[in-house]
Amino acid sequence: MKFIELAKKRCSIRGYKSDPVPEERLNEVLQAGNLAPTAKNFQPFHFIVVRDPAKLDELAVSYPAPFFRQAPVAIVICTEAAKGWTRDRFDGKNYCDVDAAIAVDHMTLAAADLGLGTCWIGAFDPARVIDAMGLPEGVEPIALLPLGYPSEAGREKTRKSLEKLVRYDCW
Ligand SMILES: Cc1cc2nc3c(=O)[nH]c(=O)nc-3n(C[C@H](O)[C@H](O)[C@H](O)COP(=O)(O)O)c2cc1C
Repeated sequence: MKFIELAKKRCSIRGYKSDPVPEERLNEVLQAGNLAPTAKNFQPFHFIVVRDPAKLDELAVSYPAPFFRQAPVAIVICTEAAKGWTRDRFDGKNYCDVDAAIAVDHMTLAAADLGLGTCWIGAFDPARVIDAMGLPEGVEPIALLPLGYPSEAGREKTRKSLEKLVRYDCW
């Protein structure tokens, strides 16, 4: 599949079948995240794969939308800011969230390529994720990624037109 076709195909899936995700497909999704670029190649993140139904129940308290708990797998993407690259020569900006976002995007695209569905979840209660996953000090949850076979069809994307987004040569 051409990349642009995959980018069109990937959409947020909010309905999952209970069928398990084969190990090799899960590993391919994780590997796609691992192949993502990071500032200085520091990879300041961790991926926690949650498959234990009791743990999924605990995690779902942080994001109680029913579709989230339908997925047989969830990946919790966490960053460790202290291990991220910072733009010290100028403003000290820490890039760990950017690094994690690229990894999550790679994972969502890999999942779509494998016929799996995902939905980037950012509206979770971080305190509850920290609790459910036993995250140590300095490790922050950035995204939850339910993963499973879609029970709903993909949909057309609604996006701003390029004319509204793109400027040339200056603002
Ligand atoms: C940073 C981020 C946070 C998001 N958080 C949520 C969320 O908490 N719940 C949800 O249902 N979708 C969430 N989404 C999915 C967006 O709503 C979705 O990507 C957007 O509407 C575009 O649709 P598409 O993914 O189907 O192309 C999030 C997406 C991103 C990138």
